[in-house]
Amino acid sequence: MRITIDAVAAWREAGERFTMVTAYDYTSARLIERTEVPLILVGDSLGMVMQGHDTTLPVTVDDIVSHTRSVVRGAARPLIVADVPFGATATADDTVRAAVRIMAEGGCQSVKIEGGVPVAPTIRRIVDAGIPVMGHVGFTPQSVHVTGTRVQGRTVEQARRVIHDALAVQAAGAWAVVLELVPAELAAAVTARLRIPTIGIGAGAGCSGQVQVWHDLLGLYEDFRPRHARRFRDLGAEVRGALDEYAAAVRDGSFPAAEHAATMSADDLARALEDPA
Ligand code: KIV
Repeated sequence: MRITIDAVAAWREAGERFTMVTAYDYTSARLIERTEVPLILVGDSLGMVMQGHDTTLPVTVDDIVSHTRSVVRGAARPLIVADVPFGATATADDTVRAAVRIMAEGGCQSVKIEGGVPVAPTIRRIVDAGIPVMGHVGFTPQSVHVTGTRVQGRTVEQARRVIHDALAVQAAGAWAVVLELVPAELAAAVTARLRIPTIGIGAGAGCSGQVQVWHDLLGLYEDFRPRHARRFRDLGAEVRGALDEYAAAVRDGSFPAAEHAATMSADDLARALEDPA
């Protein structure tokens, strides 16, 4: 049975903290399916960790649809949310069209849209079209060229903006909101003021839940290490170790071993060699 938005709302009511992790492919989704993590985000962070871009901006709706399909095929239990990418948000009409496509072709249960007060009317249109929307305020990576990669809400004026953005997203009908890179005290206060769950990343422990990027929490993205992430494993080192062992085993002849290939009788082989044609 798939996790529902109502279940997430009930966890918030009960004060049960929950987790969300990004995934972009079938194999990762299969792994998440067998863990206690109930929410998956097919984030446009795929532009950085999967495609090697400097920002999330080049990600297309086609990319999101394709990765979402792979994740949906791998995970039957988690609730799957997919990002509406920057390139699809020039106008409200574009954003609504992209959200419909991501839901219809991707097969996820919700979309996520970055932005607060200015995008609230668009969120309302998408919700009215029957699509659950997760908001995303504070630092919004799609606006990195405007804001820089900076904590949002450190000054009173900025903090008011984060509060207004979160309230606007909630009023527009979003069922949850990501709070990214905002001071922990502000995130806790926003969480207390909202009726919907908040999902923090770099926003302290006072949010209803937490979201992390797969590659950050497993130590797979080594280009930089975000301050907000904890490496729960160092799989980058594990992978390098495994590949070096593989290369060494092939060089020294210990791989492949007898059990890694089928065999045939010496007689059959001799007969085959007598008349190869
Ligand atoms: O794209 C993404 O991975 C995100 C998370 C950082 C919240 O938006």
